[in-house]
Amino acid sequence: MMNDYDAVEYPHAPITTADPDRMAVMGALFGMQPVVPSRCRVLELGCGSGGNLIALADRHPGSTFLGVDLSPAAIAQGQRRIDALGLTNLRLEQMDVMDFPAAAGEFDYIVAHGLLSWVPPPVRDRVLAIAGRHLAPQGIAYVSYNAYPGCHLRAMWRDMMLSTAHGSTRRATRSSRRGACCNWWRTAPAATTRRTGWRRRNRHAWAKPTTR
Ligand SMILES: C[S@@+](CC[C@H](N)C(=O)[O-])C[C@H]1O[C@@H](n2cnc3c(N)ncnc32)[C@H](O)[C@@H]1O
Repeated sequence: MMNDYDAVEYPHAPITTADPDRMAVMGALFGMQPVVPSRCRVLELGCGSGGNLIALADRHPGSTFLGVDLSPAAIAQGQRRIDALGLTNLRLEQMDVMDFPAAAGEFDYIVAHGLLSWVPPPVRDRVLAIAGRHLAPQGIAYVSYNAYPGCHLRAMWRDMMLSTAHGSTRRATRSSRRGACCNWWRTAPAATTRRTGWRRRNRHAWAKPTTR
């Protein structure tokens, strides 16, 4: 079944805060003995098109990487990049985390970035259960989530776009209205936004929306 991530491309890039190098250092500082990133096993839940894992797999040829995501379009896009780069240590699978197999084995690092706050409670529970079940003894899980007060700014953008798209049941119409809302802010006279610094802080929301 097509979901929003198949209809509208989401940009996936390396997640510096979830880099195993960084997590290993943090773990060591907390008295753990994390597995060295150059020979580790990494699982990413909700990996999108693998923008994070592809960079890691290229950097750590002695490690293995598995990414799962619900969106067939994102996984297919990631697979094309993996094939083009000839990476053999990274596997992307289209899968609902609810169906993540118990036999998947252990991982030294498990990443779930930009997932927990986007999914309903049963999926959240599942993400945490996967971390609990599949982490190796000295493993580290990185699970990010949105929290107030910082995310009030993001919620404001969300509300504006929901309100702009209100009344339409067509995905394409909703998407183009949201795009128009972002574009209005992107091109609004500088004097409207300069004083509050919104232009700089919300530059990601202004990126021109891409649709498949
Ligand atoms: C906001 S995006 C974040 C993607 C990526 N982790 C990042 O930070 O760039 C959320 C991703 O979670 C995926 N997703 C949502 N629900 C899922 C589920 N039940 N199982 C697997 N992936 C899911 C979506 O398809 C989407 O690619």
